[in-house]
Amino acid sequence: MISIGIAGKGGTGKTTVSALVLLTLKRAGKVPLLAVDADPSSNFCEVIGVKTPPSLVSVVDDFKRSLDKLPAGIEKNQFLEYQIRQAISENPDFDVLLMGRTEGPGCYCYANHLLREHLQRLEKNYRFVVIDNEAGLEHLSRRTTRCLDFLLVTTITTRASLSSAEKVLSMVEDKNLDLKIGQTYLVINEMAGKGQDSFGESLGLPCFRLPFDTEILRRSELGIGLLDLPDTSVSLQSIQANLLPLLDSLERANPGKKD
Ligand SMILES: Nc1ncnc2c1ncn2[C@@H]1O[C@H](COP(=O)(O)OP(=O)(O)OP(=O)(O)O)[C@@H](O)[C@H]1O
Ligand SMILES: [Mg+2]
Repeated sequence: MISIGIAGKGGTGKTTVSALVLLTLKRAGKVPLLAVDADPSSNFCEVIGVKTPPSLVSVVDDFKRSLDKLPAGIEKNQFLEYQIRQAISENPDFDVLLMGRTEGPGCYCYANHLLREHLQRLEKNYRFVVIDNEAGLEHLSRRTTRCLDFLLVTTITTRASLSSAEKVLSMVEDKNLDLKIGQTYLVINEMAGKGQDSFGESLGLPCFRLPFDTEILRRSELGIGLLDLPDTSVSLQSIQANLLPLLDSLERANPGKKD
């Protein structure tokens, strides 16, 4: 399993990029895929254009409430696994998991502990996991593993947005958070303008640009998902051209990577 996380300031295109990455992998046959919506104010499913499943948080809440009412013979573990399966929306080539609002990193209650174990096992069933994040990286400290093979940090071409990207990077480097991130790329989203040629260079990260895409905007205005976005979409083409070679070489370097 190779995990790809998308982070950045609000409104800079995290969910759009997450959906484009998912589409890119699906159309390249790099399946099965798991799309994880880790943003509590999430709309990943709507942007993809699939049914929104119940959140994991609601599933774990149900699990906690039912613990003392479990029929004899049913193991708690089995029951949670069953509940988690209910929280996964299955689609051709990819599943979707909605995290919901999770508790703080300090909460290691029984249900959350079990949940981490199950998620860790679950993720191993997929070739790629794509995680749409909230603006910061707080969610990562709550995830089963604090590892990401690939982090895409989105920014639009404003100073404020770039400063937020910089903050995400400082979290990546913060030893106390103990995050393990393989490669980090800056995605310069040109939705609000192209900015200067040198924009983003100060961060010292490899970067690529996501062009303004009228088709993305049109679909967003009409509430149409991106699942059947035509291959002529300039933003999809950019993700395909920039990301696929990187992921190909990552897969070649880690054949059979299981965690
Ligand atoms: N390259 C682009 N071209 C045209 N429109 C875009 C582009 N990127 C994003 N958008 C539009 O900008 C809006 C914000 O994008 P998106 O929802 O992906 O950002 P976000 O970072 O996930 O926001 P939030 O912080 O609210 O989760 C959406 O309406 C989306 O369709
Ligand atoms: Mg979003």
